[in-house]
Amino acid sequence: MKTALILGAKSDIAKAIATELSKQKVNLLLAARNANELANFKIDLQNKYGNTISIIEFDALAYATHENFGEQLPTNLDVAFCVFGFLGEQKNAETNRAEMFRIVETNYTGAISILEIIARQFEKKKQGLIVGISSVAGERGRQSNYFYGSSKAGFTAYLSGLRNRLHKSNVHVLTVKPGYVKTAMTAHLQMPPVISTSPDVVAKKILNAIDAGRNEIYVPAIWRVIMRVIKDMPEFIFKRLKL
Ligand SMILES: NC(=O)c1ccc[n+]([C@@H]2O[C@H](COP(=O)([O-])OP(=O)(O)OC[C@H]3O[C@@H](n4cnc5c(N)ncnc54)[C@H](OP(=O)(O)O)[C@@H]3O)[C@@H](O)[C@H]2O)c1
Repeated sequence: MKTALILGAKSDIAKAIATELSKQKVNLLLAARNANELANFKIDLQNKYGNTISIIEFDALAYATHENFGEQLPTNLDVAFCVFGFLGEQKNAETNRAEMFRIVETNYTGAISILEIIARQFEKKKQGLIVGISSVAGERGRQSNYFYGSSKAGFTAYLSGLRNRLHKSNVHVLTVKPGYVKTAMTAHLQMPPVISTSPDVVAKKILNAIDAGRNEIYVPAIWRVIMRVIKDMPEFIFKRLKL
């Protein structure tokens, strides 16, 4: 891996990925809204690790800008990490349609809009890797976050289809399904410490999964078991639970 794009580069998980990649001297393109806020982060990484880092403006919801964004990407791009996401507030979204659409569009339409452009470039070159950060929330809809969960379910299905399409073109797709990660997104939530993890651990697991050529990972791994139990629970029981 020589040059990586990180979409949603201001996220805590994205910054941890950027740090791990910098340690491996990977050159980075950090894409985010108000991307100039990443200036100090970029200087710190460059001073510490000596890699080349550029910053580029990117808004997942500004669909009309995505083709142009794609045209500006370096031809030697190897890897694209799609990290941005929006949890939003479920209760608010049940009455506030703008919030509902923002959740669904950021996690699903915004992600597929830009990844389709990058996928086409990688497909042409017959080389590349796309890493999509989905979520365990996409495995079964729950009353506490079903707008977010259903958009991540769509994103997981999209990544699966994309992996299937691009396999013959030597382009790999890795789906990452984190459970609870201590970041700005979850700062207001009470998360059980035993099944929660840090952005640093998530980043390291992702890089290990890339090296191992994995298709899909849960982080922490225990979430694969938890979600198996949740998915197998009969609906007549599940619908009565307060989840
Ligand atoms: N934390 C968890 O427990 C957890 C669990 C499962 C999955 N995930 C997923 O992990 C990914 C990273 O989240 P995080 O936990 O690191 O949260 P975070 O620190 O809150 O990061 C979310 C990032 O998404 C960016 N974003 C939101 N809307 C955007 C848009 N329209 N265009 C561009 N960027 C946009 C935000 O940008 P601004 O800084 O400009 O607002 C923010 O930097 C997300 O996809 C999230 O769904 C997180």
